[in-house]
Amino acid sequence: MPDLLVNLLKLPPLQPMLDELNATGVTVRRAQPFEITPVRQFIESNFSVAWADEISAGMANKPVTVFIATRNRAVIGFAVYECTRKAFFGPAGVASDERGRGIGKALLIAALGGLRELGYAYAIIGAAGPVEFYTETVGATIIPDSEPGIYTDLLTSQ
Ligand SMILES: CC(C)(COP(=O)(O)OP(=O)(O)OC[C@H]1O[C@@H](n2cnc3c(N)ncnc32)[C@H](O)[C@@H]1OP(=O)(O)O)[C@@H](O)C(=O)NCCC(=O)NCCS
Repeated sequence: MPDLLVNLLKLPPLQPMLDELNATGVTVRRAQPFEITPVRQFIESNFSVAWADEISAGMANKPVTVFIATRNRAVIGFAVYECTRKAFFGPAGVASDERGRGIGKALLIAALGGLRELGYAYAIIGAAGPVEFYTETVGATIIPDSEPGIYTDLLTSQ
């Protein structure tokens, strides 16, 4: 899976997406350090232990570099940045029964906005799975010769 480059100076506006999701009962916000257990549990049961471990680094950043989506006070999605490498976005995921509602896009743009606030002009999406999702939502482009990237010689499956 290749790494992708995203121009952070051309991100679409986040607030209209947040307002639209809010109207359907979904909140997208930065996680809090005291929420690490429910966030990890969501990621472990829907994705992998390795992803839950990876986001734990973001929970220790100040500000926390983990965004979550919630409905009825339960986690339904997440997106993180600056966990494994500086300027990197990911991992990210939305519960399978909540996909296709704009939640992944809002989480992506919130997290990329966090990278822009740190001063970066470009972000790297590490080992992008659904490349089309990133090319369509934020105009990401494939970084040539970016495989294998940072996720090599792994102890656990991603
Ligand atoms: C990728 C993922 C986070 C997208 O979440 P989502 O909430 O379904 O995405 P959205 O509803 O915000 O989709 C936004 C747009 O991207 C498109 N899109 C969503 N998933 C896509 C995919 N896998 N491939 C191509 N396009 C996709 C949608 O059709 C939508 O287009 P539209 O605005 O024209 O309607 C979700 O499918 C997921 O959790 N996948 C499994 C984990 C994963 O692969 N994470 C990424 C690791 S790099």
